[in-house]
Amino acid sequence: MPNSKTVSDYIRAIPDFPHEGIIFRDVTTLFSDPRGFRMAVDQLVHPFVGQRIDKVVGLEARGFILGGAVAHQLSVGFVPVRKQGKLPGDVLSEAYTLEYGKAVVEIHTDAIQPGERVLVVDDLLATGGTATAGIKLIERLGGEITGCAFVVDLPELGGRKRLEELGMSVHTLCE
Ligand code: PRP
Ligand code: ADE
Repeated sequence: MPNSKTVSDYIRAIPDFPHEGIIFRDVTTLFSDPRGFRMAVDQLVHPFVGQRIDKVVGLEARGFILGGAVAHQLSVGFVPVRKQGKLPGDVLSEAYTLEYGKAVVEIHTDAIQPGERVLVVDDLLATGGTATAGIKLIERLGGEITGCAFVVDLPELGGRKRLEELGMSVHTLCE
């Protein structure tokens, strides 16, 4: 049967999670649907086909699920940016704030080689704090960012503007 649904049709909004006043955009319903998940991965990859990409960096945690699939589709390696204390090797760290808190993210120092072209993937762009921290880590290792791809953009939180001011090419599938 033809599928008339769009990516946003598979995402649900859960009020007051993780804190009162936050409307949480839950992508688990997108991931669990075979057509929804394939549609999202295909659309994330689409603008970058034919561009040089050496690595996909996924931002913990939902960026791992999408980023792994995107890396597989582009036939390139996958690198995780993880919350503090999870990576076993030598790491670089960056602190940041997001819509509902503060955190520190890390990357292995040998995960990206200088000059490698990197695509950053996550499920959602809100304030852009998480993505900016990931970008700083990649750039500190000498990586060059080809683009940043997200399923959801929450434009009122300013993340796209913040990344574009850093010179990033930002690709999102829905608001
Ligand atoms: C969410 C989301 C992004 C980030 C976006 O992750 O998956 O990574 O917030 O917000 P920002 O643009 O304001 O930084 P979260 O920190 O909830 O972590 P999790 O995926 O590990 O649950
Ligand atoms: N990360 C930051 N804000 C979010 C939201 N409203 N829903 C899901 N993930 C988020």
